[in-house]
Amino acid sequence: MMVCEYKPGLEGIPAAQSSISYVDGQKGILEYRGIRIEELAAKSTFLETAYLLIWGELPSKEELKAFEEEVRLHRRIKYRIRDMMKCFPESGHPMDALQASAAALGLFYSLRDLHNPAYIRDSVVRLIATIPTMVAAFQLMRKGNDPVKPRDDLDYSANFLYMLNEKEPDALAAKIFDICLILHVEHTMNASTFSARVTASTLTDPYAVVASAVGTLGGPLHGGANEEVIQMLEEIGSVENVRPYVEERLQNKQKLMGFGHRVYKVKDPRAIILQELAEQLFDKFGGDKYYEIAQEMERVVEEKLGHKGIYPNVDFYSGLVYRKMGIPTDLFTPIFAIARVAGWLAHWKEQLAENRIFRPTQVYNGKHEVPYTPLEER
Ligand code: SDX
Repeated sequence: MMVCEYKPGLEGIPAAQSSISYVDGQKGILEYRGIRIEELAAKSTFLETAYLLIWGELPSKEELKAFEEEVRLHRRIKYRIRDMMKCFPESGHPMDALQASAAALGLFYSLRDLHNPAYIRDSVVRLIATIPTMVAAFQLMRKGNDPVKPRDDLDYSANFLYMLNEKEPDALAAKIFDICLILHVEHTMNASTFSARVTASTLTDPYAVVASAVGTLGGPLHGGANEEVIQMLEEIGSVENVRPYVEERLQNKQKLMGFGHRVYKVKDPRAIILQELAEQLFDKFGGDKYYEIAQEMERVVEEKLGHKGIYPNVDFYSGLVYRKMGIPTDLFTPIFAIARVAGWLAHWKEQLAENRIFRPTQVYNGKHEVPYTPLEER
């Protein structure tokens, strides 16, 4: 057997062949099925982009209409899922609630027919349609309110904001939210997508695939960083405190949240668009003092760490956008998951098309031939 060099974090090791998305980390390019994200953010919608990623081509008018209609029809969640969610502790993190709820869907749709395209489509539609409803339902129930029913006259993003806030959203806010979903939907072999593909490779059901990916996304080194960015900006508190804060963290070898990326060595192209979206919201609804802190932080970090290729990543400005929309901080990562579920499902489908179970090896660095010591001698 060929012996390969061990690479912590599997850096630079291809885990799959994929035609879903592409990143050029030196030039700051991200493409979905070959289309630049800047173009999709300007011209597409989240559901159209999800279709593109999962089925490989932009849909025709009729295909898009049919897909949107199917998603609209599947937005409601079962009473028993709602009842189950009502029993979750209000103090629990919404990502844990989402992981449990996504896994629970598998109890209701336990028939597994992985080679049937209709089964794949049904599962895709159900997961994309119900994940936002579950996130909004948990938010309302933990406040002691009943969840509100989805509104069929609202499109995907406007309906989510409606279910979350119990009022119809501003049109610009809903449009910007939809663009945020486009920007978060897919990103090559990141940790949660890898997790989704490993789980998919065992031929389990798509609910287990998504639940495992949600669990992986929640960590602070991955999607959970968006929450921690806002906590960090709050802790810094003023523009003057930025430099001493950054210097102290670097001295203590602590990471600055929302900065750095395994692949990008320039500013993440998603962060560039998210910053523009934040500015559009500030123009309409008034500024945010944390934005000034964030901008100063970007300047100081570039001065100190630019030579290492450490710049803002996707999580740095997204929180400021969601904050301006009045979304609570601990929902930022579940919102990342609402988008990313479509990327995970594209990888699920691709993995199934040419599956081999993931079973890597390891470099054993433990002992051998150790005699058993009886309990009384230990
Ligand atoms: C996401 O991969 C994806 O696609 C993920 C994602 C997606 O769309 O799915 O883009 C979403 O997860 C964005 C990342 C969110 N996480 C954070 O913002 C947390 C802070 N960032 C980091 O911890 C870090 O940059 C990672 C986790 C993003 C990347 O980790 P790596 O590639 O393992 O890099 P590393 O930790 O080994 O650091 C390499 C060097 C080190 O310095 P040296 O020891 O070589 O001198 O860069 C330094 C690090 O100390 N470094 C940082 C830093 N990130 C890297 N120093 C200070 N602050 C940071 N944020």
